Amino acid sequence: MEITTSIEALRTYRRALPGTVGFVPTMGYLHEGHLALMREARKRCDHLIVNIFVNPTQFAPGEDLDRYPRDPQGDAEKCRQLGCDILSMPTEAQIYAPDHSTEVRVGGLDTTLCGPGRPTHFAGVTTIVAKLFNLVQPDVAVFGQKDYQQLAIVRRMVRDLNFPIEIVGVPTVREADGLALSSRNRFLSPEHRRQATALSGALVAAHQLWARGERSPAALVQCGQQRLAQAPDARPEYLQCVHPDTLREFAPDEDLHNQPAHLAMAVRFGDTRLIDNLRLDEP
Ligand code: PAJ
Repeated sequence: MEITTSIEALRTYRRALPGTVGFVPTMGYLHEGHLALMREARKRCDHLIVNIFVNPTQFAPGEDLDRYPRDPQGDAEKCRQLGCDILSMPTEAQIYAPDHSTEVRVGGLDTTLCGPGRPTHFAGVTTIVAKLFNLVQPDVAVFGQKDYQQLAIVRRMVRDLNFPIEIVGVPTVREADGLALSSRNRFLSPEHRRQATALSGALVAAHQLWARGERSPAALVQCGQQRLAQAPDARPEYLQCVHPDTLREFAPDEDLHNQPAHLAMAVRFGDTRLIDNLRLDEP
């Protein structure tokens, strides 16, 4: 496995790879969720390139950029074990020129869910992902459904800008008790960690209600809210029932018969913000 912090070296190593290339962009501190993406890319392509870069432009002032967890050596070992060909860990100076002034912004999909609470976030994500796509030139890029809105926005960007890249979404990897794996889980106190099962619990409760025939967005959201309320320290930022492709929020009284539906939420425990989501109309 080649490890490099230089984008020139990345280009050189990449050009030397024959066959197809799968790509997994990450911010590091790799866990089983990231590894599932890497296995999927490995399965689909001859080669695997992983990028680790804690991208400052997707964090707003006051968010957790400064304390974002890092473990470059542990990450490199995991990548090696998974058969990664190139691990790219560029520095901020390699990625952003001091006077960089170009941004990629996908309109339309950022008015619901995390969009209003993090108004600059997705432009930071799409800008770095577009830059990495240009550097790596993969055939396939793999993203997690855990960040469902991010996946939808990246798909839209790839379609709108004609990147010749297949985007693959991988189901959320969870702890045994349902909590979605996240680099941020380590910030939870033991008590908050216990309460954090309320997120997946709320999704499962709404999913069961859907399975019993409920098709009212208001009832599905209320069901999720009730489960969340069992966690006394949970501070929900949003819990929305949206169309899985357009991410449009359904009106409370809309009839969801013959409609696909997705439930998604962001919840704070202290300073730690967790997200989770689930497709309601699939098993
Ligand atoms: P990061 O949070 O490191 O996540 C990298 C990839 O891992 C994303 O596609 C994310 O959806 C996926 N992932 C995280 N937790 C997961 C889980 N429990 N199950 C399945 N997949 C999971 O997302 C980012 O980094 C950044 O925004 C990035 C795309 C790298 C741009 O900077």
